[in-house]
Amino acid sequence: MRDANPAQNNQAVHLKDYAPVPVTVTHVDLTFRLDPQATRVLARLTCERRGPGDMVLDGEALRTIRVALDGAEIAPEIEGDRMILRDAPDAFVLETEVEIAPERNTELSGLYISGGMYCTQCEAEGFRRITWMLDRPDVMATYDVRIESDLPVLLSNGDEVAQGVWRDPWPKPTYLFALVAGDLVAEADTFTTSEGREVALNVWVRPGDEGRTSYAMDALKRSMAWDERVYGRAYDLSVFNIVAVDDFNMGAMENKGLNIFNSRYVLASPETATDADYANIERIVAHEYFHNWTGNRITCRDWFQLCLKEGLTVFRDQQFMQDMRSQAVQRIGDVMTLRARQFREDAGPLAHPVRPESFVEINNFYTATVYEKGAEVIGMLRRIVGAEGYDRAVALYFARHDGEACTVEDWLACFEEACDVDLAQFKLWYSQAGTPHVEVRDSFNDGLYRIDMKQVVPPTPGQPDKAPMAIPLAFGLLDTAGNEIRETEVHVMTQAEEHLTFEMAERPVLSMLRGFSGPVMLDHPMEDVDRLRLLAQDTDPFCRWEAGRRLAKERLIAAIGEDVALDADWLDAVAALATDATADPAFRALALALPSEDDLAGSLHEAGVVPDPDAIYAARRHAQMAMAERLSSAIPALRDACATAGQYDPRAEDAGKRALSATLLRLQTFLDGGAAARAAYDAADNMTDRMAAFACLLEAGDESVAARFESDWRHDRLVMDKWFAAQVSHAAPRDAVDVAKRLTAHSLFDPANPNRVRSVLGALTAANPAGFHAPDGRGYRFYADWLLRLDGMNPQLSARLSTAFETWRRYDADRQALISAQLDRIAATDGLSRDLSEMIGRIRG
Ligand code: PHE
Ligand code: ZN
Repeated sequence: MRDANPAQNNQAVHLKDYAPVPVTVTHVDLTFRLDPQATRVLARLTCERRGPGDMVLDGEALRTIRVALDGAEIAPEIEGDRMILRDAPDAFVLETEVEIAPERNTELSGLYISGGMYCTQCEAEGFRRITWMLDRPDVMATYDVRIESDLPVLLSNGDEVAQGVWRDPWPKPTYLFALVAGDLVAEADTFTTSEGREVALNVWVRPGDEGRTSYAMDALKRSMAWDERVYGRAYDLSVFNIVAVDDFNMGAMENKGLNIFNSRYVLASPETATDADYANIERIVAHEYFHNWTGNRITCRDWFQLCLKEGLTVFRDQQFMQDMRSQAVQRIGDVMTLRARQFREDAGPLAHPVRPESFVEINNFYTATVYEKGAEVIGMLRRIVGAEGYDRAVALYFARHDGEACTVEDWLACFEEACDVDLAQFKLWYSQAGTPHVEVRDSFNDGLYRIDMKQVVPPTPGQPDKAPMAIPLAFGLLDTAGNEIRETEVHVMTQAEEHLTFEMAERPVLSMLRGFSGPVMLDHPMEDVDRLRLLAQDTDPFCRWEAGRRLAKERLIAAIGEDVALDADWLDAVAALATDATADPAFRALALALPSEDDLAGSLHEAGVVPDPDAIYAARRHAQMAMAERLSSAIPALRDACATAGQYDPRAEDAGKRALSATLLRLQTFLDGGAAARAAYDAADNMTDRMAAFACLLEAGDESVAARFESDWRHDRLVMDKWFAAQVSHAAPRDAVDVAKRLTAHSLFDPANPNRVRSVLGALTAANPAGFHAPDGRGYRFYADWLLRLDGMNPQLSARLSTAFETWRRYDADRQALISAQLDRIAATDGLSRDLSEMIGRIRG
């Protein structure tokens, strides 16, 4: 547990106050004597003075046994979480011995125990919970680590020198340190790098999980080859270890040479994992591997620069996934994620720049803005300078900054030099929060086609006024027959208002923001016929999908609370897409999916309308029913055409067919009350098909399927996470809170396991908004009770879950009052963590 010292703990840190350390650490020698309740950590820090001033070390929840300077014991000056060393010499060795209790570490930060194995999580500031150190990313040191334990597998960073003895020759910050000890088994393989280095690869799991690692291993090897081929980056140690742990706050962690993963992003078999799980494994394995260069070899000077490694590495994992799978489908999926999470964040009280200027708790800034918008910023840069310019700039970045802790300025300077561009205005993407609105109006007169563009960046907390941004707008023009008459070009908009003109014989159809060329909200009114044209014929798959989405959204919004019939034109277009055998099934599945309830609520709010969660839910059901009726006679044959040949294969092509089949089964369930879904459930030979059918049956109100699923899968924790989540997600809104309550009382519900917690609480808020927003406020009360309870165990988890309340000002006065009462109750609770108290403070605004 955190030391209660709010006066010291709740101070904000500011980017502008950055100062380098006066005394640094160049080498770290660590000995661990592992014990669940009393682990001893002996540290020998080789220190060097770089300027005048005191050395201030970080330490948290440590029992300090001994401190010595150059061999002589000293009485340290310890104030809360800091140890201050005054008048340190120019070069010296600082030794400390501390005791920690991994078994009692429920925060899952520092050294803890998960499923019987010791493991660590040090990003962002967990190393200080292991030993005294300068726990900040601009202090880079080499490490020697000795692990003393009877456990058979003892791992740390770098190369193995002897059993339990590891040496990492690459200087790294504390946050990349890792240790694992346990009774583990590995799938082993090798990879030979382009530089001729033989690398031993291992995916370590608990006994019983072997046989579920081959996809992760395969993804790792493809990632290594891809980074060599596309970025010219080869791996740099003799071994690369991945370890799967069950209790983990995030997805995975890129510790040097020893990546630690949430087990749900490693373990997969056809019987237990869905296509979405496989895709996540591929993406996250790649992401963590890519960090070896973008994050580890070149790291961040301070935590304000987090996007430097995360935005870039997300961009790289997106590029990788586009190369491995369908480029179009991948891009659409990434845009959906960005809008669902980042636009929502940017539109509310938690909006912050890609590079924040201050924080109280850095863990609260591992956000969609830093990650996903950070990746969009890299993508825009690449569009502006072109693919070759991008490659030159990135090569310069690696050459110039290898081994350093850098800033966004260092990164941008490489582009300015390599590409001879001025990025002064572009840099606003890092400092101005909020999603720019781009208004586009076009007109045709006398052979002149004119596009008028206006940009507005809305105010966000602490930033009332914004300057115009540099926005790359990719667009193309089609004739009214749907033929492309001007191929994609990129116009970089820099002024608040601009226009473009073209001479042409007839009025064209504008395909704007191709490939989603910038993270903006586009306001471009268009006749239905033109949208239908784009949907049917645009050469840009993103704009095709987007046209369909706009049409669907306009209809849903019109139908909310109105019960209006859906027009035949739209339903015909939907049917044409569904039955278009020439189109990629994955694309058709995406195009048939309606905007989410949260997306609709956000759009209504944008338009100045107070969203009613129940009416939104009803309107979506109504539209699905209309789609189902329109397609009814075609569905069986369409689903047959989705059948895949042979054994389950997670590749994108087959996954796309299963996705389309699942979408159609969903519609079918509206017509047959679950008959087809029951057959599909019984016939399923893989978890993707099984979960699709399970969801349909839950929505159809099937009384027995949950019990049957449970008795089949009780023993499997990852599958049971799905069982918990599905029941909450697919409950009727009026039942959702009761279902969630009942599930938190289930014998397999474990509040110490973040995956299990998210499978109930996360599912309620993300997948069942009409349930969460029950008008009597019982969803809010239930949720706040859990936030408080979890906060005592795991503040990172409670703080992250609290973002469910970030949209509270969208809703009606009654709901706002109910939520506000819960926020007040949380804020007034004694002993709130720094994490949750910062979040609740910001959400209340
Ligand atoms: N750095 C990790 C990643 O993006 C995420 C992470 C952050 C994991 C903080 C743990 C703690 O890959
Ligand atoms: Zn990352």
